[in-house]
Amino acid sequence: MYTQSFSVADSEARAGLKSVTPPPTSEEAALQAHFDAVIDADGKVEPRDWMPEGYRKTLVRQISQHAHSEIVGMLPEGNWISRAPSLKRKAILIAKVQDEGGHGLYLYSAAETLGTSRDQMLAGLHSGKAKYSSIFNYPTLNWADVGVIGWLVDGAAIMNQIPLCRCSYGPYARAMIRVCKEESFHQRQGYEALLVMMQGTAEQKAMVQDAVNRWWWKCLAMFGPPDADSPNSAQGMRWGIKRISNDDLRQKFVDATVPQAEVLGVTLPDPDLKWNEERQHHDYGAIDWDEFWATVNGHGPCNKERLSTRVKAWNDGAWVRDAALAHARKQKERSMKEAA
Ligand code: 3HC
Repeated sequence: MYTQSFSVADSEARAGLKSVTPPPTSEEAALQAHFDAVIDADGKVEPRDWMPEGYRKTLVRQISQHAHSEIVGMLPEGNWISRAPSLKRKAILIAKVQDEGGHGLYLYSAAETLGTSRDQMLAGLHSGKAKYSSIFNYPTLNWADVGVIGWLVDGAAIMNQIPLCRCSYGPYARAMIRVCKEESFHQRQGYEALLVMMQGTAEQKAMVQDAVNRWWWKCLAMFGPPDADSPNSAQGMRWGIKRISNDDLRQKFVDATVPQAEVLGVTLPDPDLKWNEERQHHDYGAIDWDEFWATVNGHGPCNKERLSTRVKAWNDGAWVRDAALAHARKQKERSMKEAA
């Protein structure tokens, strides 16, 4: 009878499997050396080029998470299209939400060039395995939230995304150029909407201040964990995917936003926020990382609602995808018959 004490040595074949990474062949070493030279020269890696598996995986992870953030990010604002306060605001908001959908499509396409299909990426999102930005798990309670998302959330997104236009992977870098142009319009429309509200009634001003209070800290956390706790940063920077660290981007965002808040006439909800002459930057208070991680791990106020809305949209759209595929199949058959 076999018991836990039944113990024999690994077979020789099994022992052979233990060597983890076989030494690179001379061909692999040459490919790696070429890749390293491209990265060191700040060149671009293209889909046809050889790349280390880790580089490919990191890009698929980051680009697909980014794409998911764009399409989940349509939900909190889409919620306000039918309640926009004027025809002008409704038209702007429809265009903005549609742009975010477009960003998702460019990004899924960029990730597909790395050999992962859109269906695989969406399956990851729908099963809750794939991440998307923490910021989209908070509710939009009133119209001022829509303005604040434009000003602060899109403002933070641009700060993070401008350096991605110089990412070492060509398709991602090129997609980001257009994304950033559109994001800059999103940021301005949000700021302008808030400027108008701040010239309105005391109630409208209070709504803006309340929305700023609720979103400020979430936007600071959006840049990701502190550099010391960011497992992917060092390698991402080495590969030229990430150009500026989480903390440096966060600091740039704070420094850029303080004067904008002054012009708008709102206060940022941080008693520790003050200019530091020595550092030539603003100091700011402690971010609640426990809340951030709880949200990233599925326990934010709207995680369940966001995911179930995406899954429902996917299921409801099955007939459209089926019809498009059937149409494409028929067209192909027809053109093959004509060619025969
Ligand atoms: N929300 C959710 N997860 C986050 C996060 C956030 N705000 N910030 C970091 N994380 C996750 C990372 O994905 C990583 O998890 P993983 O290893 O399982 O993938 C973990 O926390 C540790 O973080 P790191 O700093 O080590 O990870 P990265 O080096 O990948 O840096 C990042 C994180 C800065 C978000 C980087 O991935 C990035 O620049 N991504 C591209 C931009 C992007 O995705 N932006 C999201 C917002 S897009 C948007 O807001 C749409 C616009 O219309 C407003």
